[in-house]
Amino acid sequence: MRFGVLTGGGDCPGLNAVIRAIVRKGVDHHGHAILGFRDGWRGPIEDDHVELTIEAVRGILPRGGTILGSSRTNPFRRDDGPDRIGETLAANHLDGLIAIGGEDTLGAANRLHGEHGLPILGVPKTIDNDIGATDMTFGFDTAVQVATDAIDRLHTTAESHHRNLVVEVMGRHAGWIALYSGLAGGADVILIPEREFDIEEVCRLIQRRHDRGRYFSIVVVAEGAQPIAGTMETVGGEKDEFGHERLGGIGQRLEVEIERRTGYETRTTVLGHIQRGGTPTAFDRVLATRFGMAAIDAASNERWGLMPALRGTDIELVQLADAVAELRTVPQEFYAQAEAFFG
Ligand code: F6P
Repeated sequence: MRFGVLTGGGDCPGLNAVIRAIVRKGVDHHGHAILGFRDGWRGPIEDDHVELTIEAVRGILPRGGTILGSSRTNPFRRDDGPDRIGETLAANHLDGLIAIGGEDTLGAANRLHGEHGLPILGVPKTIDNDIGATDMTFGFDTAVQVATDAIDRLHTTAESHHRNLVVEVMGRHAGWIALYSGLAGGADVILIPEREFDIEEVCRLIQRRHDRGRYFSIVVVAEGAQPIAGTMETVGGEKDEFGHERLGGIGQRLEVEIERRTGYETRTTVLGHIQRGGTPTAFDRVLATRFGMAAIDAASNERWGLMPALRGTDIELVQLADAVAELRTVPQEFYAQAEAFFG
């Protein structure tokens, strides 16, 4: 059989491990041919592909990024997008396509399968860990480790200089990275998109630490965190093809507000794409490899419209429609547990 594979959306450590597993198991074990499409959905729309042989995937397991390239191309932004993808599959005699991506890429995969009948299955990826129907996505563990290392380093310098440090981490709709790295790094305040924050309360917690003789605080904020409406100004950014605003800037805003309200020196570090780049942790390499193997097995059995998911410690196939129906956000109870360490 012949299958295509693509990586879409923001890149994430572990993408190459998935590609390698699909090719290694697909070619060696099943005897398939695998084509890699370049730059997300642009690849099948423009039939831009490369054959992925065992040789082509040698040495990529520990490598960050994706050898196929990625983009935020939305196939539904153009009228002929779905038809062109169907034509590319037919022209290359492909039996199906494996789309590795986050909410947008998987959302498009689900529609291409459900509304256009295309033989597609998905693999969940995102450092944000916000895909439904799976307990975890690969890339998240690496991002948390990078952020935790950064918080540890910022801790020592914040303490030496008796200043507050705001650490802005990724997380558009879900605060998983902020919550995990904040807990692991011993942050004094953690702000997530799921819970609008009260700047007065943030400053009160910082003041409480001062009153107890702790003259520095670490505030971890997810880029998508929002203040309670009308309490603080925020900044907006331009939008991508899926209508998502380019985020970033809440850390800077917090720096200004905290310093103004408390009178204590405050600085910001924005971790940005450092969280997405570089080598995946061992955990992410293994999870990505297991997802890749499950995906090529499912494709071999023509199980379209599905996605491998981590359920407990098992890999199971779930409906793509279920995975994209709702984002997996941080439960309020979990955040409430973390609050025990604030201030
Ligand atoms: O979706 C993953 C993510 O890392 C988000 O947390 C972030 O908002 C977005 O990607 C930023 O991606 P880019 O800078 O590539 O547009």
